[in-house]
Parts: sequence; C-alpha cells; structure tokens
Amino acid sequence: MQLSTNISLKAYHSFSSEEKAHYFTSIKSNDDIVEISNWCKDNHLPLLVIGAGSNILFTKDFNGLVAKMELMGIKKISESASEVVLQVGAGENWHHFVSYCVQKGWGGIENLSLIPGTVGASPIQNIGAYGVEVQECIESIYVYDTIQNEWLTLKNAHCAFGYRTSVFKQSPNRYIIAQVNFVLQKQPQLKTDYGVIREVLHDKGIKNPSLENIANAIVQIRTQKLPDPKLLGNAGSFFKNPTLPIEQYEQLKAQFPNMMAYPISDNAYKIAAGWLIEAAGWKGVRKGNVGCYEKQALVIVSYGIESGKEVFDFSEEIIRSVKEKFNIVLEREVNIV
Ligand code: EPU
Repeated sequence: MQLSTNISLKAYHSFSSEEKAHYFTSIKSNDDIVEISNWCKDNHLPLLVIGAGSNILFTKDFNGLVAKMELMGIKKISESASEVVLQVGAGENWHHFVSYCVQKGWGGIENLSLIPGTVGASPIQNIGAYGVEVQECIESIYVYDTIQNEWLTLKNAHCAFGYRTSVFKQSPNRYIIAQVNFVLQKQPQLKTDYGVIREVLHDKGIKNPSLENIANAIVQIRTQKLPDPKLLGNAGSFFKNPTLPIEQYEQLKAQFPNMMAYPISDNAYKIAAGWLIEAAGWKGVRKGNVGCYEKQALVIVSYGIESGKEVFDFSEEIIRSVKEKFNIVLEREVNIV
C-alpha cells in the first residue's frame, strides 16, 4: 500500500472543499482492502473508503486514512436465455457501467443513467431515480467485513435495502464493498411510468422505445434539471423525501393544497422535499458561497466554498425553516464527514 500524508481532498469529492486527509491511499486489489483495514486497526485510526466522492460532504479534516476505491472490471459470470449476471468492480464509474449494459441490450438500470459516482457506492444508498432503485438488479455483493476480518458474499435479501438506505448505511464502516453482482434482463420491461420520461419520448415522436431511447431521455432530463458537479459543486439531492403518516399528510394537504406527495402504503405518504424547500422560499437563494439550486430545490450547490461547513450550516437553516413552516424535520441524504 502506498501512503501519502496530509493530502488535500479537494480533487476527490464533488463539493471540492479544502479539507485534508491525514493519510491517503488507493485500493487496487482485494488484498489492498485487507491490508488497509489491518493497518487502520494497528494504528487505531479511522478508515474512510471513498468512490467518486459525489455523495459526501467534508466538514473538517479527516484524521485517519482515506482510501479511494479503484477496483475495476466488468465480468460476465453467467448467462441464460433471459438474464445475464455481471460481476463489477466497486471502482467502476456508474454511468460508464450503465452505458455498457445499454449498449449490450441488457436492461434494468437504464433509468439510473448519469447518476454520478461509482458502482461500489450504488448499493450503499440504494441509488434510485425515475421509478427504479438499484436493489432491483443486485444479486449479491462481495464485501470484506472489517469487524470479523473475513470476506463475505451478501445476498440481496441480506442487504436491508430501503429508500436510500442499506445495511452498509446502517452499519457504517463495517463492510468494504469490493465487487457487486448485477442481474440484468435480455428482454427488458422498460419503465416509462414517470411522467417526464413519457413527455420526452412523446416530444421525440418515439412510440416503441429502446433501452437506448430511455437512457438518452434520462440523460436529457437530468442534464436539464441537475447541476453538473464539474461546473457547480454539489452532491445531487441533499435531503431525502420524508415519509409522513396519513393523518399528518392530510392535515398538511388541507393547509397546503399544492403540496406534492404520493402514497407509499395504506397509511403513509412520501412528500417531495423539493416542494417543501421551495415553498419555504429557498429555491434559487444564495448566501455567501452556497446556494439552493434554482432549477431543483433539493440540491445545494457551492459557488466556491472553502469548507464544507458552509454547506452544512446552510442546510441547517433549510432544515430549521422547513420545520417551522411544515413541522417536518428533513433528513440529509448526503454523507457528512
Ligand atoms: N419539486 C418542487 N420544487 C423543486 C423540486 C421538486 O416543487 O424544486 C416537486 C415537483 O413537483 C416534483 C416533485 O417535487 O414533481 C418530485 O421532484 P423530482 O421528480 O425532481 O424528484 P425528487 O423527489 O426531487 C428524487 C431523487 C433524485 C432522482 C429523482 C428522479 C431523492 C432524495 N431524490 O428527487 O435522486 O433523480 O427523484 O426520480 O429521492 C439523488 O439522489 O441525488 C437524486 C438526484
């Protein structure tokens, strides 16, 4: 393992603030994972594995080892008439992997086109967009358990997947994801229920969309609505969409008839946090070097912050103001370090 010391993290995360890592290395083999885990234990230092750093906010220097995941490779491990199973290295770029599958005609993750980040990060927060969550295509995950010091294959059912959550989020720092096995469909059922996808296909005059048509539509929608982190630092949706019991939802809906929400069970509603933040007056608001994105209020953007603390404080203000207006406490979706 090659260790660097006192490294600026600016180039390694999408908010691009100036925090430093005391130690820094990269992971290029499964053996590296065991080595860095042991090294951190021996030196009593915390370990933080990062992918592309696109869902993370550093608010202070990290006094431990930051290890950048660089395990690569896409390998077909089985194939039947209807499915393929692929083993993919955690360090592969997510969108590159989606495009590869679309090109091969293997369906299931096309609605997740252009989500920033790496394959290994995708199960951690169970990435989701336009009616699809990544858990639907995950067969199993090969991980190193840093508590038991052993390699494990976690089957999908043991990953505790939920809305933007998983066992990896619930037991942070326990498992290091090395490879993810995906099951993809050779005769895919396309998911075009999301209104905005149908609109784009309609505008283009596409009646029988291909996988590629869907992927292109998603890329178009995301490019129009979400800021490019290379131009404006951000980590996608900063908050989760909160769930409310039906009674609380009905009270609020009576008070705010335009409130955007949809039922998720017989007695609960998911509320669009973007709507709440916009209705609390934050959309397009800038304070110093931080702002609430003008086209999508769920995204906080940096106009050149020095410290992630600036973004954190801004998010606190949003949480406070949404709580005051709606009595809903927003939860952050981005990992705060
Ligand atoms: N809305 C507003 N104002 C806003 C933003 C949204 O009123 O500024 C309302 C709109 O009425 C819209 C509704 O909120 O109809 C939902 O918005 P949208 O479809 O854009 O989705 P979202 O709930 O804001 C979620 C994911 C996104 C994902 C989109 C598309 C979360 C936290 N975010 O956003 O994921 O791309 O759905 O499916 O669940 C991410 O995780 O980083 C991310 C971008």
